[in-house]
Amino acid sequence: LDNGLMRTPPMGWLAWERFRCDIDCKNDPSNCIRYGGRVGTGGTGLSLCERLFRDMADRLAEDGWRELGYVYVNIDDCWSSMERDKEGRLQPDPDRFPGGIPRLAQYIHNRGLKLGIYGDLGTHTCGGYPGTTLDKVAVDAQTFADWGVDMLKLDGCYSNVTEQAKGEEEEEMEKEGGRERTDEEGNDCCGTDGEKERVREGRDEEGPRMTKERRRKRDERGYPLMSKALNATQRPIAYSCSWPAYQGGLPPDVNYTQLGEICNLWRNYDDIQDSWDSVLSIVDWFSDNQDVLQAAAGPGRWNDPDMVRQSLSLLEQSRSQMALWAIMAAPLFMSNDLRTLSSEARAILQNKVLIGINQDPLGVQGVRLLKEKSRIEVFWRPLVDSASALVFFSRRTDMPYRYRTSLLNLGYPSGSYKSSVVVKDQRETERELEERAVYDVFTEKTLPVLKHDTYFTVSINPTGVVT
Ligand code: GLA
Repeated sequence: LDNGLMRTPPMGWLAWERFRCDIDCKNDPSNCIRYGGRVGTGGTGLSLCERLFRDMADRLAEDGWRELGYVYVNIDDCWSSMERDKEGRLQPDPDRFPGGIPRLAQYIHNRGLKLGIYGDLGTHTCGGYPGTTLDKVAVDAQTFADWGVDMLKLDGCYSNVTEQAKGEEEEEMEKEGGRERTDEEGNDCCGTDGEKERVREGRDEEGPRMTKERRRKRDERGYPLMSKALNATQRPIAYSCSWPAYQGGLPPDVNYTQLGEICNLWRNYDDIQDSWDSVLSIVDWFSDNQDVLQAAAGPGRWNDPDMVRQSLSLLEQSRSQMALWAIMAAPLFMSNDLRTLSSEARAILQNKVLIGINQDPLGVQGVRLLKEKSRIEVFWRPLVDSASALVFFSRRTDMPYRYRTSLLNLGYPSGSYKSSVVVKDQRETERELEERAVYDVFTEKTLPVLKHDTYFTVSINPTGVVT
């Protein structure tokens, strides 16, 4: 989206993966989704600490994150009240956000940070809170702008019964002789990854369920409408669309040209979980479809493989996720507890060279060059000034693997990217390509210069990377 925002992938913090829909402030005061509110059962007063969004804003501002580019503090689902206000506007839960969103926005802005919020194009959010039906798009955009919001993530759960579309939908359904499936509460089934998986596997077209075509017609109205409505508020609000994730993620159902015109970033695949399998399945899906996805990405329009999860398990895997997300030009929204993050985990997320790769101004999304039988994979991203980033990634689970290769062997750099790489003078470039200065991002060491055909060996830890 050409609104001047997110010319490099956005960076910040997002609540969802780590803190989910924790609204139990009574028993879990420091982790529940809130900005203010009373602490403890007795209601004895306001504690100045232990408020998730305020704490994260403090950490981003005080622990060196902001200076590196991590500026968004993003609220996800479960922030709102179950009812809209008398004027039909969304309102936050009064106990957990007693000063309203503007107070939180101000707190965040005062610290040089930006506030993101979550909405859902449909009757309900994935967590069951009020959604944005078509007739509410304009009022919700204006409300967010009035509150001082800087980014909106618009999800796509429960979106098949939008107000204006209702009559039409029902008519169509009657023609097809079926009704939508419903869950125990009567909502159309069932949101989140189940919904996304069904669409991807084409099962959405079965029988009484919503057909892809009907879903497309409905979404086609809502997501562009919100883009226009945000623009009409005249407040710069970055726009993250979950639309493609609910359409199977790929053409012809997803129109990436249109997405690039109306959204700054988009989720196109499953939610990340705190599991290595989930990271691997995201990397696979992004690599298997890299031709389509790479073409869709660029300044102001990014594929979003979802959050950088909390490193609850191996540091090795945190390194790998961060390196691969840098290669994929992915938004870097951490979902972790910045209050208790280990210094090792912090060093990975604050690695300046990796962030530099992620934020490279050329904005070309990297690709997987090779997938070896040895379960070593090599990723590559072209950067400005004819530089590039290489990631050697091991899917092995045995021992450090010694991988021997040469740049020539890797097919690097591939001619097809020459046009997008800033080429100075042809002869100079050829000379540069003959000899490459090499830097190892994690050991922070400059390595011997490499000729194109020099063989070298990297030792890659199981589930780890050399970058
Ligand atoms: C969906 C989204 C997640 C998160 C949850 C909230 O599953 O894909 O990122 O926002 O909804 O309920």
